[in-house]
Amino acid sequence: MKRIGVLTSGGDAPGMNAAVRAVVRTALTNNMSVVGFKRGYNGILMRSLRPEDDYIEMNTRSVSGIIHKGGTTLMTARCKEFHKLAVQKEAIRNLKAIGVEGLVCIGGNGTFAGAQALSQLGMPCIGVPGTIDNDLAYTDFTIGFDTALNTAVEAVNRIRDTGDAHERASLVTVMGRDCGDIAVYTALACGAELAIIPEVEWTLEDVADVVHKGVVGGKRSMIMILAEGAQSSLKTDLKELKKEHPKLRFTKEHITSSQFAEVIEELSGHETRATVLGYTQRGGSPTANDRILGTRTGSRAVELLRDGVFNRAVGIRDNQIIDIPLMDAMNGATFDPDLYKLVSVTGSIK
Ligand code: F6P
Repeated sequence: MKRIGVLTSGGDAPGMNAAVRAVVRTALTNNMSVVGFKRGYNGILMRSLRPEDDYIEMNTRSVSGIIHKGGTTLMTARCKEFHKLAVQKEAIRNLKAIGVEGLVCIGGNGTFAGAQALSQLGMPCIGVPGTIDNDLAYTDFTIGFDTALNTAVEAVNRIRDTGDAHERASLVTVMGRDCGDIAVYTALACGAELAIIPEVEWTLEDVADVVHKGVVGGKRSMIMILAEGAQSSLKTDLKELKKEHPKLRFTKEHITSSQFAEVIEELSGHETRATVLGYTQRGGSPTANDRILGTRTGSRAVELLRDGVFNRAVGIRDNQIIDIPLMDAMNGATFDPDLYKLVSVTGSIK
């Protein structure tokens, strides 16, 4: 293989730049040229007026000074129309027209689905796991997770200071889509009382109970980490709760983080505040772990293409870089019940 492409797609993740850098430098070292596609799969569709807005020839200098930067210098996007076969075929034609023989696709589940589709149409693809969510079961960690986690931990430390001063309970909402990993790891690292996650059923009454017991047990402040996707496993009947507490602001179908805090305050009798960390978790300079993971996986992706091993997803298991068939890499997250239990064991008072 003499010419490959690289793209970042889906939600950006700190460490994606390190992966792109490793792809480019490893390819050049192995006498392969590299095309960088902009805005994920959109770049391959080449719809911009100027070609350089869609793809650029990468050289060793194109990736200088980016390893420490958050975001992705290739930019990213979610390409909604890419699930259509006609669009995928158009992408294959475009790739062939500029001589690209293989593609490294850095992103999460959606990115891997795009890569799998292209590989079915004969374009060799390698997936590199870049998402803060850590929701790909085949790899112990995804690029960006460690940085997002550390950002969340730093934010919670600050929230704890003010919570302590006011003797309040704090509900902190973290990202993760349908995966509770950011919440569980943040809770563990911050000594939170509770992680509320999509993988485990929960009720508002139970959460209020933890707060109440904490107050009775003499805690000055309490931290509960809420995964953004946890509403899917909420077992409280909101209709009933609304009947009992008509003044509370939530609707019968949905409850926002601040309304959640109001409910906890009402049920536990203890002042409770909500903070949604949101996109702060996606930005910022990647941690050393994410830079190294990006570098190792990006480099291995190119080595696989060089060696004629196609349609694989690269990951890390027990600190070894591994690769598995791309189509098996989209199986969702694995949930570690022991880590989850450890939050309650170490964080709450019985
Ligand atoms: O997948 C990464 C992620 O940040 C999720 O945690 C979050 O649910 C989603 O992306 C947000 O997506 P968008 O950037 O499209 O708002």
